[in-house]
Amino acid sequence: MSFFKVGVTGLVGAGLVASAALSRSVKPRAKRNLVSMAARGGESYDALMKDLETLVKEKECGPILVRLSWHDAGVFSDGKLKGGCPNAAMRFTDGGEGTFGANAGLPDVALGLLKPITEKYVPGTIGHADLWTLAANVAIKVMGGPDIKTRFGRKDAESSGDSAESQAGRLPDGDKEIDHLREIFHPKGFTDKDIVALSGAHTVGKCHLDRSGFDGPWTEAPLKFDNSYFKEMLEKKYEDDKTEKGNPQFKNSETGTIMLISDLALLKDPAFKEHVEKYAADQDAYFADFTTAWVKLQELGCSGLRDSLEARESVSA
Ligand code: HEM
Repeated sequence: MSFFKVGVTGLVGAGLVASAALSRSVKPRAKRNLVSMAARGGESYDALMKDLETLVKEKECGPILVRLSWHDAGVFSDGKLKGGCPNAAMRFTDGGEGTFGANAGLPDVALGLLKPITEKYVPGTIGHADLWTLAANVAIKVMGGPDIKTRFGRKDAESSGDSAESQAGRLPDGDKEIDHLREIFHPKGFTDKDIVALSGAHTVGKCHLDRSGFDGPWTEAPLKFDNSYFKEMLEKKYEDDKTEKGNPQFKNSETGTIMLISDLALLKDPAFKEHVEKYAADQDAYFADFTTAWVKLQELGCSGLRDSLEARESVSA
C-alpha cells in the first residue's frame, strides 16, 4: 500500500467533522449577506468550502495546496529586498513567479487541480490569492491539522509584471543550512521559533524528482497533518543519499522517508532544536505555534484584510 493510501484512510472522518464545523461557523448575519452575494451572481461561501473539501479529499492534493499558498506569500521580504505580498502572480507563466524554478509544479499541477473551482468562484465570490489562502487552510483542516481562520481582501496581480523580481533571497533552498534559513525568514519578520513551526508543514506531502530534484516523503503518513515530522526527525536514523537528479538529501533506509539538509539543520542549532523537541512532545503546542506563524505568513504585506468574504459584498453594495 502506498504512503498516500495509508494516510488518507483516516481523513474521510476528519473531513466530515471539519465540514460540519465549518458550516456551523457561518453566522446568521453572514448568511443574510450570502443571499445578496448569490443575487449578484456569486456562488455562496458554503458551496465554495464544500467544493474545496471535496477536492482535497478526492484528489488527495492537500500538500500541494499548502505549498501553493506558502510560495505565493513566501516571496515577501522586508529586508534588503522589499515587497512580494501574496497576490497569485504565479498564474502568469510568461515570466515572473510562474517561471521560478522554486515554484515548479505549482502553476501547472496545483492550479490545474484548482481550475474547476477557480472557474466557478473567481471573480464572483472570491479573488485568486484569497482562494489559494483559503484552499490551503481547508487542506490543513481536512488533513487533521488546526482549524485556521482565513481573512480576505488580498489584491490579485494583474500580470507577471506584478511578480517579485526573482526567487533569490526570497524562497529557501533545500540543500542549505541554518544561516540560509535565517537569511530568508528573518527579513519576513519570522523568529527562529516560527521557522521551526513553519518547517513542520513538511509533515505532509513529498518531494518530487521532476519538480525540485529531491525525492520522497518526510513522514510515513504524508496526508496526515500532525507532529510526526518532528518525532521522525528525532527518532530515525538518516543516511546520506543522492537522488537520480544528483541532489543531496538524507534517507531512512527502512521506511524510505527523507529529510532535506534544511530540515535536519533544525537539529544543529540549540535555538532551533529546543522547539523541535517541544513540538515532538506536544502536538497542541505545535498546532498553536504553527497557526500563529502561518497566519502571519499568509498575511505578509497585506493591509485592510476582512474577516469574511461577505463583508466585501456588504461594503461594495
Ligand atoms: C524552511 C525552508 C523550506 C525549504 C528549503 C523547503 C523546500 C521544499 C522542497 C524542496 C519541496 C519539494 C517540492 C516538490 O518537489 O514537489 C517542498 C515541498 C513542500 N513544502 Fe517546503 N520548504 C521549506 C519550507 C516550507 C514551509 C514554510 C512550508 C509551509 C508552511 C512548506 C510546505 C511544503 C509542503 C506542504 C510541501 C509538499 C508539496 C507536495 O507534496 O506537493 N515548506 N518544500
